[in-house]
Amino acid sequence: MAVDPVRLAVFISGKGSNLQALIDACAQEDYPAQIALVVSNIPDAGGLERAQKANIETLVISHRDYADKAEFEDALLNALAPYDIEILCLAGFMRILSADFITRWEKPLINIHPSLLPDYKGLDTHARALADGKKEAGCTVHHVSADVDSGEIIVQKKVPIFAGDTPETLAKRILPQEHIAYPEAVLALAKGLR
Ligand code: GRF
Repeated sequence: MAVDPVRLAVFISGKGSNLQALIDACAQEDYPAQIALVVSNIPDAGGLERAQKANIETLVISHRDYADKAEFEDALLNALAPYDIEILCLAGFMRILSADFITRWEKPLINIHPSLLPDYKGLDTHARALADGKKEAGCTVHHVSADVDSGEIIVQKKVPIFAGDTPETLAKRILPQEHIAYPEAVLALAKGLR
């Protein structure tokens, strides 16, 4: 008997190319997950259109509509509640979730970060790798813990850094690896849940 696909929610803030990679993976017949909900904190995030095209339910929950982070996070958790979500995926979601949210969520919560963690947590990862004269860079899918960009690593992909690279050329080389890494990480977790 076929098993039910693992139900994902994806939080985004931007163009949603990683969301698209997950949409495409979930469209494969043998992929054991499906996206039940996409939430954006930015009303005009490009990723919302990608989700709608794939007939995935979307919600906009803007942090600007709430008095503080606690109320915003309450709204996020309340929105998730009816969907039976099993893995929450952050994909270019540009808000830092509090320790309280992480504790209350209880289920797997994962993120993609454009560096070879534990190197270059935070922003401007590519520029910092170049400034340090690194020979390679990459991306990491990791569990989210209270310390930003510090949770257990699930999948990592490396690319070389070439002479003359800029943050933009490096980002262009890394992004396709992100699109491979995220579905791989979700696959690994989903297999563990079924
Ligand atoms: C990606 O580089 C991701 O690693 C970072 O933000 C970017 C989001 O891109 N956290 P997209 O919205 O998935 O296209």
